[in-house]
Amino acid sequence: MLFKTLSAAVYGIDANLIEVEVDYSGVVSNEEHFHTVGLPDAAVRESRDRVRAAIKNSGYLIPPTFITINLAPADLKKEGSGFDLPIAVGILGAYGALRNDDLGKFMMLGELGLDGSVRPIPGVLPVAILAREKAIPNLILPAANAAEAAVVEGVNVYPVTTLLDVLDLLNSAVMGVIQREPFRIATGEILGRLEQFSVDFCDVRGQQTAKRALEVAAAGSHNILMIGPPGSGKTMLAKRLPSILAPLTFQEALETTRIHSVAGVLNGDGLVTQRPFRSPHHTISDAGLIGGGIVPRPGEVSLAHNGLLFLDELPEFPRNVLEVMRQPLEDHTVTIARASMSLSFPARFMLAAAMNPCPCGYLYC
Ligand SMILES: Nc1ncnc2c1ncn2[C@@H]1O[C@H](COP(=O)(O)OP(=O)(O)O)[C@@H](O)[C@H]1O
Ligand SMILES: [Mg+2]
Repeated sequence: MLFKTLSAAVYGIDANLIEVEVDYSGVVSNEEHFHTVGLPDAAVRESRDRVRAAIKNSGYLIPPTFITINLAPADLKKEGSGFDLPIAVGILGAYGALRNDDLGKFMMLGELGLDGSVRPIPGVLPVAILAREKAIPNLILPAANAAEAAVVEGVNVYPVTTLLDVLDLLNSAVMGVIQREPFRIATGEILGRLEQFSVDFCDVRGQQTAKRALEVAAAGSHNILMIGPPGSGKTMLAKRLPSILAPLTFQEALETTRIHSVAGVLNGDGLVTQRPFRSPHHTISDAGLIGGGIVPRPGEVSLAHNGLLFLDELPEFPRNVLEVMRQPLEDHTVTIARASMSLSFPARFMLAAAMNPCPCGYLYC
């Protein structure tokens, strides 16, 4: 018996549609056999143990048969734990636990706990954008990720907390239409909320020239370098810079949220509503700054997209790390090539840097 579910894998800041095909055949003595094919990484391969336990603890028994799971297209590397849910639903569907045997109108993603609970995963916003592009109307996601995906209009997001909840939801669907209200979020309201900053530009005493320079830089999104002796307030000024930047537009907020979603650094709000302020320590590696990994992930320059990247104690950064900043500063994008793929991330940020004028810090003082 063959059963198909739809899911997605995120590469860079874009998602690709992945079909999860489940097939079982033949009775195998004593133990069940479970094979995952389609270039899975360790987390995807391990999913069989989570899925098996989650199905058992949700009250279903899988007969000891030979199960093959194919993640198609088979030539793309799959990583992460988000395929747990489509695999589990596929297995249950193959064994007849679902009333509906065509899940072409549902896309699902989520990590499973051994008890059958559905856990959050990173990179849900690009998946919602993909669902809209592919005209797949329903998106089933872990409850903690719902706000992030609901930002995209035109897809119905259904938050779920357990595997049984998912089965309930799918069994309640009539002709691909779910009999439950989708999760909605008022994006305009979130963006319009008064911005709250823990530190504010008005805390700065005096320093008229420095303040003026920062205001001009903030207005035009110009890069700025502050040079001065220790204790003169460089770090303090830079930390207060976000409070005088222009508010994010909806399009900018969506772009930034997409990157933060992929990197898994979003807080529960769903949408990034303030310009990001990233201030990496000078011990950061070049891969940490521009992005990296086997399937490349965004680095600090991309996390600061539409916001501020602050490099404190600039000369302390290793030369090779500063050199990699050239491309993003000129092109506003970074391209990371790895053996498996080459990906581009947006990186349009305002660079602020601070340094002492000499190693002791008191030159000309
Ligand atoms: N113009 C100023 N207004 C208010 N506080 C200031 C000012 N300049 C310096 N300070 C105080 O001095 C502290 C040290 O400043 P800091 O930003 O760490 O200096 P730097 O980074 O230049 O070494 C700050 O935390 C702040 O409390
Ligand atoms: Mg400082």
